[in-house]
Amino acid sequence: MSASSSAPARDRLRIAIQKSGRLADPARSLLAACGLSWRQSRDKLFCFGESLPVDLLLVRDDDIPGLIADGVCDLGVVGLNELDEQAKARRQQGLPDAYQPLRGLGFGQCRLMIAVPEDWDWQGVAQLSGKRIATSYPAILAAWLRDKGVDAQVVELSGSVEIAPKLGTADLICDLVSSGATLAANQLRPVETLLDSEAVLAGPVHELDDARAGLMAMLLRRLDGLSRVQDRKLLMFSAAEERVDALARLLPDAEPLLRLPGNGTSVRLQTMCNGALSWQRLEELERAGAQGLMVLAVEKSLA
Ligand code: PRP
Ligand code: ZN
Repeated sequence: MSASSSAPARDRLRIAIQKSGRLADPARSLLAACGLSWRQSRDKLFCFGESLPVDLLLVRDDDIPGLIADGVCDLGVVGLNELDEQAKARRQQGLPDAYQPLRGLGFGQCRLMIAVPEDWDWQGVAQLSGKRIATSYPAILAAWLRDKGVDAQVVELSGSVEIAPKLGTADLICDLVSSGATLAANQLRPVETLLDSEAVLAGPVHELDDARAGLMAMLLRRLDGLSRVQDRKLLMFSAAEERVDALARLLPDAEPLLRLPGNGTSVRLQTMCNGALSWQRLEELERAGAQGLMVLAVEKSLA
C-alpha cells in the first residue's frame, strides 16, 4: 500500500527510529526534548505515545525510508546516507519519490567516502577505472561514478565492507567514515567524499490531510525551536564602564549589550550570544575586564 489521499485517515502520528545503533539514543533524546513521552513498550518495537498522540516504531535504520514510502510510518529519524541511497535506488527503478529530508538534526555526522589501500599512490578518480569497489551504497556510488565519467565495477555488500580488499572480493571500498578508526584498522585511506551525512527527520513528499498534519507541524516547530536555542547562550558579567566598549568588540556574535543597574563602580551586563562560548573565550573576556562571567543555556524558545 502506498501513502495517498485514499489511505485511511489516522489520528496518531507514527515516527520510526533506529532500534539500536548510532542514531538510536540521540533520536529518542531529541524527540523527548520536543515534549514527547512514551509508555514502556512490552514488545520493544512499538512505543505508545503518552503526552501526545505520537507513537514510536523501533526498527532497523535501513527499513525507515521504506516504512515512510509505504505509509506505515509518517516520519523517521534516519541517516541522510540511507535516505539518499534508497531515494536514488527508487529513481533508478523508475519509482516516484516517496520521502524527503525535512530537517537536519545535528547528530550522526559521517561521510560516505572512497577509501583505497594505504599503499596505493593516489592520483585521482581516473585511477578507479576498471576497479572493483565494495559498498553498501550502490546507487549513490553508481551515480557518482557516472558523474565523474569513471567506468568501475560496483560490488554490493550488505556489511563488513572494509575487509573486502583483504579478502580479494574488491580492490577498494566506498563506505561511511565517522572517526576513521575502521579504515585505519583495515589499512585503508579515505580519498574522496561522495556525501556529507547526518541524521535527518524524513517525511513524506505529500502533506498529510488529517489530524497528523497538525501534529507534524507542531513537532517541526518544536524541533526548530530547539535548533534555534542550541548555540544561543545568555552571557552575564559585570565590568568597569571604561571596559564596556572593548568587551562588546569581543562579542561580534552577540546582541547589543544590555545594561542592568550596577553597584556604582561597575556595570552589570547581559547579552544573548549566538556563537560558541568556549572556556578560552571566557578567559579572553576576563582578561579584557569582564568579571563574574556566567553562561546560561536557553532551554526553549518559540521566538
Ligand atoms: C559505519 C561504517 C563503518 C563505521 C565507520 O557503520 O560502515 O563500519 O561506521 O565508523 P568509524 O569511522 O568511526 O570507524 P555504522 O555504524 O553506520 O553501521 P551500519 O552501516 O551497519 O548501519
Ligand atoms: Zn544500517
